[in-house]
Amino acid sequence: MTDRVLITGATSGIGLALANRLSQRARLLLTGRRPEDAVRSVLPAGAAYACADQTSPEAAVAAIEAALARLGWDGLDLAVLNAGTGFVGDPADEPAARLRATLDANLIAALLISRALYPRLASARGRLVLVGSTARRGAADFASYAASKAGLHGLARALAEEWRGRVEVRIVHPGPTATAMHAKAGHDPGRLGRLFAPPDTMAMLIERAAGSARPVTNLSFSRFAWRRAPGPR
Ligand SMILES: NC(=O)c1ccc[n+]([C@@H]2O[C@H](COP(=O)([O-])OP(=O)(O)OC[C@H]3O[C@@H](n4cnc5c(N)ncnc54)[C@H](OP(=O)(O)O)[C@@H]3O)[C@@H](O)[C@H]2O)c1
Repeated sequence: MTDRVLITGATSGIGLALANRLSQRARLLLTGRRPEDAVRSVLPAGAAYACADQTSPEAAVAAIEAALARLGWDGLDLAVLNAGTGFVGDPADEPAARLRATLDANLIAALLISRALYPRLASARGRLVLVGSTARRGAADFASYAASKAGLHGLARALAEEWRGRVEVRIVHPGPTATAMHAKAGHDPGRLGRLFAPPDTMAMLIERAAGSARPVTNLSFSRFAWRRAPGPR
């Protein structure tokens, strides 16, 4: 077991499924917005945890760097920046503070965390994987979420060029997945939710895409669900 792996937003859904998949093969540093005592029971045994609320991007970076230093990891083999949040509804009704929180958590924090991780990723010849969304293309009812994911797409493309030959950069764009995210965002997919990919399946597809040579991978498990389902994707 040699790989040192960081996964953000690993306290539920896709991030937790990915952590469980990798837990037998890698040393894990997991992050989330909740304090450790609130999440320890759901995390894989032996994984390190850092509370890093990405709505305060600089503080999240500091928490992650402190945790990496505590672990003595001067290199990082894989970082999966998966933490995400969203709001579903008419953009005219989205409070400015909520909009800003979505952009901070999904985009600004990812940018600052990527930058902070660069020296460790470069020294290990590691991989950075950003978790975007098929929603980056834009559709009604989730404007700030789509904007954050479109921004991540551009960030990934830019970093892949910038860091070529030193750090491999990938972005994966999941389609609808059956996690708690929809409820947290104020969206009920109803019966269409049954068409959504299970988080374990999505985690398996992300792991496969992370190891591939393709810089951008769309992971729409169900094209039918993608066409019909509103909500964060
Ligand atoms: N579900 C879908 O249909 C879908 C489709 C495409 C892309 N995605 C993307 O996949 C990623 C994982 O989402 P998911 O579906 O697995 O949702 P989820 O179950 O809600 O998991 C999201 C994770 O991010 C954490 N998080 C939320 N806000 C945060 C913040 N401010 N700071 C730090 N961590 C924060 C959550 O913490 P808590 O456990 O405390 O909430 C949780 O660990 C997200 O980037 C999402 O945009 C999801």
